[in-house]
Amino acid sequence: MEFDFERMSPTDCFTFLTSTVVPRPIALITTTSPTGACNAAPYTFFSIAGIDPPVVTVTVLPTPDGQMKDTGRNILATGEFVVNLVSEDLAEAMNITCIDAPQDVDELVLAGLEAGPSIKVRPPRIVASPVSLECRIHSSVPLSPNQVLIVGRIVQAHVADRFVISPREPLLDTPAFRLIGGMHGARWYTRTNDLFEMERPTWANWKVQR
Ligand SMILES: Cc1cc2nc3c(=O)[nH]c(=O)nc-3n(C[C@H](O)[C@H](O)[C@H](O)COP(=O)(O)O)c2cc1C
Repeated sequence: MEFDFERMSPTDCFTFLTSTVVPRPIALITTTSPTGACNAAPYTFFSIAGIDPPVVTVTVLPTPDGQMKDTGRNILATGEFVVNLVSEDLAEAMNITCIDAPQDVDELVLAGLEAGPSIKVRPPRIVASPVSLECRIHSSVPLSPNQVLIVGRIVQAHVADRFVISPREPLLDTPAFRLIGGMHGARWYTRTNDLFEMERPTWANWKVQR
């Protein structure tokens, strides 16, 4: 079956894309408002997107009534945010932070998540997150009214000590993060502990073996 994206509604595009592009890493994003109020919310329209400069991308979709979400508003106003990656034991708290609370509600408090100071940006990191990436805005692309693609330059990263095998390479114990990913629909998630390994082919070996 074919799907004509030029004729599909944004809602249908959302359903199709979130049903097919899986699993998606979850960025639990902390921001602060210009007055210093803390905000947290999960985003899976999220990826790493470059290494020089090192950047992440996040797309803030409009609210159901077409408004800009607090995360987008805060990032555009302050230029700063922190991406906190989500492990299995943070799943329920992460889910609480997606609540459509009024602007002045601190979702970290609501979800019982401890905030710790960041090194280079004002928004706090989430202490229980295995990895936090402090970001300053690199650029932003307005996609439609109140929908914005944000490119964030990573300026500092925090990794909980127990996951660092060697800081020099850096070599990290990725499976031990026990990160979760977003799946289809609004409720489905996946664990990341069903791994398999493959060597990448090189042309030199390929020619010898065939
Ligand atoms: C796992 C998960 C992933 C989400 N991903 C996104 C996303 O990529 N973009 C988006 O606009 N909303 C996303 N949402 C919904 C927002 O988290 C939700 O609208 C939240 O209330 C926004 O909060 P804010 O206004 O404090 O930014 C996601 C929700 C969940 C639970």
